[in-house]
Amino acid sequence: MSKISKVVISDAVRYIGCDDREIDLFESQYLVPNGVSYNSYLIADEKTVIMDTVDARATQEWLANLERELDSVPRHEPDYLVVSHLEPDHAANIQAICEKYPQLKVVGSAKTFAMLPQFFTMDFSDRKVEVKEGDTLCLGSHTLHFYMAPMVHWPEVMVTYESTEKILFSADGFGKFGTLDTQEDWDCEARRYYMNIVGKYGAPVQALLKKAAGFDIQIICPLHGPVLKDNLAHYLEKYDIWSSYRPENEGVTIAYASIHGNTADAARELAALLEQKGQKVSAFDLARDDMAEAIEDAFRYDRLVLAAATYDGGLFPCMEDFLYHLKLKNYQKRTIGMIENGSWAPMAGKLMREYVEGFKDCAVAEPLVTVKSTLNGASRTLLQQLADALVK
Ligand code: FEO
Repeated sequence: MSKISKVVISDAVRYIGCDDREIDLFESQYLVPNGVSYNSYLIADEKTVIMDTVDARATQEWLANLERELDSVPRHEPDYLVVSHLEPDHAANIQAICEKYPQLKVVGSAKTFAMLPQFFTMDFSDRKVEVKEGDTLCLGSHTLHFYMAPMVHWPEVMVTYESTEKILFSADGFGKFGTLDTQEDWDCEARRYYMNIVGKYGAPVQALLKKAAGFDIQIICPLHGPVLKDNLAHYLEKYDIWSSYRPENEGVTIAYASIHGNTADAARELAALLEQKGQKVSAFDLARDDMAEAIEDAFRYDRLVLAAATYDGGLFPCMEDFLYHLKLKNYQKRTIGMIENGSWAPMAGKLMREYVEGFKDCAVAEPLVTVKSTLNGASRTLLQQLADALVK
């Protein structure tokens, strides 16, 4: 773990999370070139509360951060652990912290307590503080209000609103890849995080946003990424766009799956035609580029082009993988064009269309461009027609 600079929230609300720069793949699938943070917070009042633990990769650093802050609170012990989310990147240390502090009460949703035994051997029944929608917990001068947020990643998720300092502890919501000491734009890595991790759950996120609209929020404390204090309307607007599956920007994402480069050539020629028409184009080589970036931009822009070679009578596998990801993430509300390649029996167009027809509210931009091995006059004419159709 790399030490982070002190994150300042308030006198009473303190950051005790950890940056992880060494992780190779988050969730064993996402490239995180700037790492990730596992956020955890301590609220110091008459009662002392820990808001979530961290990944097992960061246990020792987290315990040191916790002990540092406990030095300044009464009894030097925490009273409550609030569990927003049981996924192991946040919940790995629940049993360990309960064993360390025998008086510690665990606050969570009914589903949290139903799932806890799947992760831990400890009996939590004497410590259990099960909360439901709208329940409160008074800490002294701070009061926690609990709201259920099922499927804002997992079914047991809840968020907590602290009404004195007007802080929303938002679980995975408003999270971002990247350690807290990374200087980078929030939107890009928060969008990649959202589309790939929470993206399937647009309706539950919309439901949470409706609840959040009823709170006066001054600070958002997510479980990953920076604490958000300024211009909160910006983040709320992004979440509204993303969770409603509306395109964020006009533009064409071109995702290509090419074996020997000829399908890539067709994708590049289409990109050039679209750029000549003044279109923003974002192109991905699915065999080499980060799939999560391609998914991100497929959702970001209003049009998508799929270009794939036929392989063993099916789709070249990286295109199948891309389309499977789009299906998992509830891809919808876009216009989609297609380019297929096949040297003797092109099948990719038919197979891609089957996926596209399963996506909600997606229109097909015609024609399907068929390339037989390499571009020629006939297929270049089809590329022109597809470019025209995508710009109409
Ligand atoms: Fe960051 Fe769904 O755990």
